[in-house]
Order: sequence, then C-alpha cells, then structure tokens
Amino acid sequence: MTNSRISGFYNMTLDERRAQLADAGHLTPENLLPFTTGGLSADAADHMIENVIGLYSLPLGIALNFQVNGKDVLVPMTIEEPSVVAGASFMAKLARAGGGFQARTSEPHMIGQMQVLDLANVHLAQLSLLEHREDLLAEADSVDPVLKKFGGGARNLEVRVINDSPIGPFLVVHLIYDVRDAMGANAVNTACERLAPMVEGITGGRVHLRILSNLADHRLARARCTIPVEELAFSAQSESETREFTGEKVRDGIIEAWAFAASDPYRAATHNKGIMNGVDAVVIATGNDWRAIEAGAHAYAARSGKYTSLSNWGKDKDGNLVGTLEMPMAVGIVGGATKVHPAAQAAVKLMNVTTASELAAIIVSVGLAQNMAALRALATEGIQRGHMSLHARQVAIAAGATGELIEKVAGQMVVEKVVRIDRAEEILKEMKTS
Ligand code: MEV
Repeated sequence: MTNSRISGFYNMTLDERRAQLADAGHLTPENLLPFTTGGLSADAADHMIENVIGLYSLPLGIALNFQVNGKDVLVPMTIEEPSVVAGASFMAKLARAGGGFQARTSEPHMIGQMQVLDLANVHLAQLSLLEHREDLLAEADSVDPVLKKFGGGARNLEVRVINDSPIGPFLVVHLIYDVRDAMGANAVNTACERLAPMVEGITGGRVHLRILSNLADHRLARARCTIPVEELAFSAQSESETREFTGEKVRDGIIEAWAFAASDPYRAATHNKGIMNGVDAVVIATGNDWRAIEAGAHAYAARSGKYTSLSNWGKDKDGNLVGTLEMPMAVGIVGGATKVHPAAQAAVKLMNVTTASELAAIIVSVGLAQNMAALRALATEGIQRGHMSLHARQVAIAAGATGELIEKVAGQMVVEKVVRIDRAEEILKEMKTS
C-alpha cells in the first residue's frame, strides 16, 4: 500500500530519492530507469513526430502527501517552474488533515462534431437526423470493435442548429462516444469520418468538418477538499518581523482571492493558470495531450458566456475552508504517447492507476491543491517570497554556476534581495576568483 508521506524527501539527493521509491516498493529499479535516462530514445522520438533532430528534457518531480478517495498516491509532475511541486505537496498535506481529496468523474464520453452545410432547410434536416438516430448510432458503434469489447462505443446523437454564423445557418451533429480508457481523439475522429456519408444521405447536405471537440463537457472530473481551519494558521518569519496568520485570516484571504477570480476575467485567467500548473504537470508526465486539456479547461471556464474561475472556495458550517474544482478531463492510459513513452508508462505505474477515470480524479485533485497553494501564498506573504530562492537557483544556473556554486550564488542573491542575471554573473565571478 502506497504511503505518500515520505519525510525528508526534499532534502535527499537524486539517488536517495530514487532508492527511496524503489525500497518502498513503489517502482522497481527497471521502472525507474526511464526517469533516470529521460525515457525516450531518439529512435522512438523519430517515429512520433516529423523531422526529429533530438530530444528535449524537463524536470520530473514527485508531489507528496496526496490522498485521493482515501488512497495515498505519489504524483509525478513534469514542469519547469519552481515552487509548483512543493506547493502541491504542502497543500496536499493540509488537505490530508481534512480527509484528503474526494474526486469523481463522469462517464468517459467524448464529443465528435460534424458540420453539415448546403442544406435547403436546417430544421428539416435536424429532424431527419434525429429520426435516424438509432441507425446512425449503430453504424458509429461498429467502427471500433476493440473499444466496443472494452465497453465503449456510440452513446448518443445531438443535432444543433447554428443560426448566427458568418456563412448563414448550418447544422452541427454531435456524436457522443464512450472512449473508456483512451483519450479518444482517434476513435471519435474515425467514427465521425465513417458517419459522414450517412449524414449526407439523410440530410442531402454536405459534411464539411469531422473532428472531436476539446470542450469535453460530457467528460468531467470533479474534486473537493475540506481544510480544517486550524491547519491554515502559520507564522511568517522575515529578517525584521514575525507575522502571525490565524487560520480564519488565511481562510478568508483565500475566499476573497477566489472572489476576485470569480468576478474578473483578467484575474480568472491567472487563477486558472495556477490550476493548470498542477493539471498540466501530471498530464505531461503521463504522456497525455496537455493542449487538449488546456483548450477544454478555458472553454469550460467561459461556458456561461463570461470567462470565470474553474474552482470555488468557501467555508462549511464549522468554519473550515472548502474547495471544489470541476473541469473537462480527457486523459487516457492506453494508446498515444502514454503507451510509447517509457517515462509516461512509469508515471502511470507509480500512481497505481488502472483506469483513465482514476487518473483524471488524481489530476483534478492536483489542480485544486495547486490553486490553493497559489491563493494561500498570494493572500498572505505574496508569491515572490516563496518563489525567490527557487527562482534564484535558476538564475544562478543561467549565469553559469554549477555544482555547489548554484546554492551559494542563489543564497547570496536572496540575502541581497537582488535576483538578476547580471548580479548572479558578478557574484559567480567573485566566488570563482576568491
Ligand atoms: C504562477 O505560475 C501561478 C499564479 O500566478 C497563480 C495565481 O495567481 O493564482 C501564482
């Protein structure tokens, strides 16, 4: 059974962290190998996209303390930004005190769209399609026997009339398709291709585009957590003073910060970006299509006609902080890069997930934790303080520091409160000559 609380993980060396995961039985040394090597060979990459000349690496860290639906999980996160993994881990620890994250998903239903043009009468065509619903679904259902064997296939047909388009009225057919544990783009696109001639025959129109929609609002993931108010209290030490933050103050600060995002699209974009810091990092680690997840998230955030926060923060009757997040989550654990990329496979194995739904539940929980990490920092000490030392390390590396000089140069910049490449270069020069 996984224990996601590993004390001192942060202070271990890379080798010690790997050994810790292997010793605790989370991954075998072979499973860990893709993380050590970066996972993907140039040959494998050459088969994935066009004109390959090499590989591009990103850091992979493990977020600790996560408990999702009562189960501990170690969460792999691929991201270049400092503070994200630490922020998620810290918030997961606070959430743990309130029972961790409860997360659910809807059925894995994707939407395939067909645009039907050149119709004499859109309303007549709409009804004709609905009258042939069963035939159309039967045809779409026969497209992918493997998916059908696993319980997937065509589920529903919706027909929308678009009146206010620049080219006049047309129809949009939505094929609702259960893709089970796949991300589903290929299955849905193939099914739409197959249905197009039938749709043309029934309507007398012309099917133009046939492609899935990334606004996967029939494939949602929802997470909630309750943070006991006393867990939120902390004191912040600076050189000149100690500031005390009571649990109530932090809780109310987080709710006020959320209210800003709920009512202002300029703030909502940044707020949701904070959620996506967590979401994307796990999506990338598992070889899923993060552009699809991004597109779905932001379109969903604008579904009322006004772009707003994807999450909600408030308090319960006992005064504890309560957070919820609902968003489309079209991720898979079969097919695509998830199967081709050895590090993605190892990431899925580390989380011990056997269905796409379990993966989606973890990802939406990480999104909620990440959101809380950002709001807590912004509503109390400000984001820069936490960011400063990690950012300083990156600046030190960019200035050419290596080995133990990275920490030394970064530390000096933090003390001086000047984290700039020119200063890092100067300090590095001084340290090298002294
Ligand atoms: C930075 O990557 C993310 C934040 O800007 C999110 C937010 O403002 O809520 C800190």
